[in-house]
Amino acid sequence: MISVKDVSYTYMTSTPFEKLALKNISFDVTDGEVLAIAGHTGSGKSTLIQIVAGLIDLQSGSVVIDDLPVADKKIRRLVGIVFQYPEHQLFEETVESDIAFGPKNFGLSDAEISARVEEAMRQVGLPAELKKVSPFELSGGQRRRVAIAGILALKPKYLILDEPTAGLDPLAKENLLKEIFGAIKKSGVTIILVSHNMEDIARFANRVVVLAQGKILFVGTPRELFSQNEILNRAGLEPPAVTQILRKLNITENALTIDEAEKIILKHCPRK
Ligand SMILES: Nc1ncnc2c1ncn2[C@@H]1O[C@H](COP(=O)(O)OP(=O)(O)OP(=O)(O)O)[C@@H](O)[C@H]1O
Ligand SMILES: [Mg+2]
Repeated sequence: MISVKDVSYTYMTSTPFEKLALKNISFDVTDGEVLAIAGHTGSGKSTLIQIVAGLIDLQSGSVVIDDLPVADKKIRRLVGIVFQYPEHQLFEETVESDIAFGPKNFGLSDAEISARVEEAMRQVGLPAELKKVSPFELSGGQRRRVAIAGILALKPKYLILDEPTAGLDPLAKENLLKEIFGAIKKSGVTIILVSHNMEDIARFANRVVVLAQGKILFVGTPRELFSQNEILNRAGLEPPAVTQILRKLNITENALTIDEAEKIILKHCPRK
């Protein structure tokens, strides 16, 4: 479990550019769940996950991961983080060596490393033939997968994804989400997903933390969130299209998927 308590963070303290990025943030992440962190641009999402991953030092409050304080170096093995646009950090000559880079630093045997590379490629839906190809010859969506595979190969217990589909076309985005969430969830990894896409949150998250201007506005299930228009408005977030259609039809029930919305609509307006 990850436990975040009363975390506040200010950039460039005591300068004219001082910026309070997080204020009194507290929430827990339970093992096995997909917890989404949602919020408008600048709401503090990336700052928060970098603190949780131990990449930005705490200024106040605490983060505890499986009973270890986040400052303990051992948490580096527990938490994997995929940054926004992670493909910008690819640099090795082949897909295989890029994915193997992290596990090599862990001092694993060659056999273990190659098993991990193969498994990670499967998890992100990359065909094994691409192993020897240069990542720079791949499409944007495939490069993104290589970058994510590099983190999965570390076998983190907690995986943090910062806007994993930002900038991808709709088809690449859809495939990436379906494949990685299908495969990763089966492996029992706990996921923190940063996203401002409510459709993705509806489909993949068990719970969601909504940030606005560095503060928590809401913690609960996506279904609870979508019934609270005022919170969505204050956070500058759009409810999913299925919810918007139900509202237009004056139906107060909530749907998370198109199939669910269809059932609800047919109940209220049966086919003639
Ligand atoms: N290195 C930095 N120095 C100064 N201010 C920063 C720095 N990084 C972020 N900030 C400020 O802190 C606030 C929170 O930024 P953060 O990047 O955490 O937001 P975000 O929710 O991830 O936004 P986005 O959706 O655009 O990625 C913003 O006002 C931002 O301008
Ligand atoms: Mg960000």
